[in-house]
Amino acid sequence: MNELSVPRPNNLDAFWMPYSDNKYFKGTPRLLARAEGMNYYTPEGREVLDGTAGLWCCNAGHGRREIVEAIQKQAAILDFAPTFQLGHPIAFEAAARVADLTPDGLDHVFFTNSGSESADTALKIALAYQRARGQAQRVRLVGRERGYHGVGFGGMSVGGIGPNRKQFGAMLPYVDHLPHTHLPAQNAFSRGQPEHGANLADHLESLVALHGDTIAAVMVEPVAGSTGVLVPPKGYLERLRALCDKHGILLIYDEVITGFGRIGTHFGAERLGVAPDIMTMAKGLTNAAVPMGAVAVRNEIYQTIVDGTQAGIEFFHGYTYSGHPLAAAAAIAAIDIHVREDLPGRVRAIEGYWEDAAHAMRSAPNVIDVRNHGLIAGIELAPREGAPGDRAMRVFRRCFDEGVLIRVTGDIVALSPPLIIEKPHVDRIFGTLQDAIHKEAA
Ligand SMILES: Cc1ncc(COP(=O)(O)O)c(C=O)c1O
Repeated sequence: MNELSVPRPNNLDAFWMPYSDNKYFKGTPRLLARAEGMNYYTPEGREVLDGTAGLWCCNAGHGRREIVEAIQKQAAILDFAPTFQLGHPIAFEAAARVADLTPDGLDHVFFTNSGSESADTALKIALAYQRARGQAQRVRLVGRERGYHGVGFGGMSVGGIGPNRKQFGAMLPYVDHLPHTHLPAQNAFSRGQPEHGANLADHLESLVALHGDTIAAVMVEPVAGSTGVLVPPKGYLERLRALCDKHGILLIYDEVITGFGRIGTHFGAERLGVAPDIMTMAKGLTNAAVPMGAVAVRNEIYQTIVDGTQAGIEFFHGYTYSGHPLAAAAAIAAIDIHVREDLPGRVRAIEGYWEDAAHAMRSAPNVIDVRNHGLIAGIELAPREGAPGDRAMRVFRRCFDEGVLIRVTGDIVALSPPLIIEKPHVDRIFGTLQDAIHKEAA
């Protein structure tokens, strides 16, 4: 048991916290000092059950010895070596291990350090591919309203979440968006994929009518997470795939949260039955023990870009830390656990229980929708008059103080526990949440 004592910091001022209400936090800090298995612990030693796998990250649970030891061992062998015009063995091994899990034919892997970098890398690969195959006019990128692809200028522009964009002026040019797939009037309280909305993919035809053959790629999350859990309607991804094929457009899946078992298969593509041309990943790739992201591409995409240059560098893109040895070691160890413990199988075994527990929230006050897939659930609350987001934020704080970590986005509670979760944990997460929602009913 990890019982290391971690003191509270003396000064909270210098750390400008990301995506945070700094003023509130620094007056009322909620700190997580250590973690093991399904739990975090505060500096005072209070246990907090993790209902969010950190941030959709720690799929194998926290503090896995195998990953810790792999990182320690690798740090002693090779701290860092560049991967520009050089290579080190473990980066190649990690790429091969990732390619073992990706859908057939997506066997080439580009390493990044985060989901945001993966999104921007995927968009750049799409543009470079279109140019290499003689379609240099395809410079337009299509995302979807309410999509989240991180915070780089590419992902932010193709993403469709207003508050993430409004402070930052002009976005990338030549970007357009499909409509989101949230249809509460028809689909509220759907279990798994909702019935209605496949036709929303047809909007791509209108964008093609508008932009002609200038669209390079469409990027979507197979299940949208950060916006508050939107599960694709039945038939939607099939339609999108068919339209992309018809019009010579690449389909990119952002699998940063759906990758590595979250919806019961290695990647979301497999469970949802529709494969992309390019897929991004991060988070669960290393169980978040070391930052790492990756982009897997269809072999023909890699080959076209590589063959498209006679000699020298073929793709002018990369990060100092692409394929970092410690991250590569963590990825291999995390993939070993993923395979050995059959984390996707564990999800499929418990997802029915999870779904029932999530939908039982329907009876709680102000719950206006429940959405779920695999080990993901979104519980949408009616906003307080004149104070959007306030009700959910209060529920979040209450749950934390009662020993359960949830995540909220606007007035939606999004849950995504480690995939090693067991039934008593499910009961505790939803029991604590019920209670908190009742207490915030006014
Ligand atoms: C679908 C998706 N893409 C990209 C990102 C960005 O990842 P990161 O925060 O590692 O840059 C996230 C993060 O939540 C995500 O959910």
